[in-house]
Amino acid sequence: PASAATPDQPRAGTRQYSADDDHTAVWSRADALKLRQDKTNTAPRVSPDFPVMSDKVWVWDTWPLTRLDTKTATYKGWHVIFSLTAPRTVPFGDRHWYAKIGYFYSRDAKSWKYGGDLFQPGTSFGSREWAGSAALIGDRVHSFYTASGRDNGGVDPNDALQRLAQATGKIHADQNRVWFTGFRDHRIIAEADGKLYQTLEQSQQGPIIYAFRDPFVFRDPRDRKIHLLFEGNTGGTAGTYQCTRRDIGDVPAGHEVPEDAKYYTGNIGLATADGDSMENWKLQPPLLSANCVNQQTERPHLVIRGGKYYLFTISHKFTFAPGLSGWDGLYGFVGPALRSDYRPLNGSALILGNPEEAPTQQYSHYVMPNGLVESFIDTVPTAEGGTRFGGTLARTLMLSLKGDRTRLAGQLDYGFIP
Ligand code: FRU
Repeated sequence: PASAATPDQPRAGTRQYSADDDHTAVWSRADALKLRQDKTNTAPRVSPDFPVMSDKVWVWDTWPLTRLDTKTATYKGWHVIFSLTAPRTVPFGDRHWYAKIGYFYSRDAKSWKYGGDLFQPGTSFGSREWAGSAALIGDRVHSFYTASGRDNGGVDPNDALQRLAQATGKIHADQNRVWFTGFRDHRIIAEADGKLYQTLEQSQQGPIIYAFRDPFVFRDPRDRKIHLLFEGNTGGTAGTYQCTRRDIGDVPAGHEVPEDAKYYTGNIGLATADGDSMENWKLQPPLLSANCVNQQTERPHLVIRGGKYYLFTISHKFTFAPGLSGWDGLYGFVGPALRSDYRPLNGSALILGNPEEAPTQQYSHYVMPNGLVESFIDTVPTAEGGTRFGGTLARTLMLSLKGDRTRLAGQLDYGFIP
């Protein structure tokens, strides 16, 4: 029995479940109809004269080396980040088909030195490496990534296969640099099963690129288990999903759900390791679904603070279901446990949206437990009416996180990831 949430006072969820229960929270159309921008949730304009962190590679989705508690880790005084990279000689829009995980290191968490590719050539699965996460345990780095495309598939934008992969290496550092060895034990740890998570085959009739990607590793302090969040789509053939009353929610009278909304089935997936050795992973029902609301809930990640679970994801304007509209940016939910009746933060889930005049200025936001949000610069309008491609880290934004509310609290240096 839910008491109605008002736009001003979203009700924090109270129901809790265990990781392997089959309760999936929803981001409803009613929630998404509340999407509004104001000064607390609109990103400041990215200046077109931003500095570039590498003249060799485009840089986009980025994640820091963390501990299993999701806090950033340093190694012998070095800060380390991992980024999707592609040579700057590749057209910016084609970078996805060339993506490799590169790494950077820094003493001050903002002057980043490019260390090259994380993995040796020919060792990773897929035909390119997409986003992931990396946990430091002792001097071992447990790296998770998306094996995107079939193995050895070459450059093929039409190959949308995605699987979750894992490899373990060792970090090394001296006074001058950071480097890695190992990562010889790549393996595929999860594939879409067609029931909980849509397979590529089932997605063929879908409107937009399909997802089974972006593993984010962490330990839940409650059940002490190691889990992965990832981005998926609801299992079943695209177009067969029927929007439920729960998906639609308490919409204003007269709100019609367009027929094609059923094609939009993004979710935040969960997989759980059988033990601390992370040998086997079991797919669990999604933690949250955006059925009939949004096709993409990318790079899901988690901050646990004051006993509350803050679930973040990034999404695009163009992936909202018909009849809804939002912004490229950061969205989030809060609940009392890892699996719980998450409620959208700020009523609608919008945390930081790009300004109307610069709708694709930045993307792939990642919130750290310290409340800092890193992202990359995408395409920025210039004064002359042109655009400048980024492919480099944006200024880090500061988020204030209080209960069910967030607020943009400030703007820091470019690529500041402490
Ligand atoms: C987000 C994203 C990720 C994916 C990567 C591919 O920017 O779409 O979901 O792993 O970019 O380049």
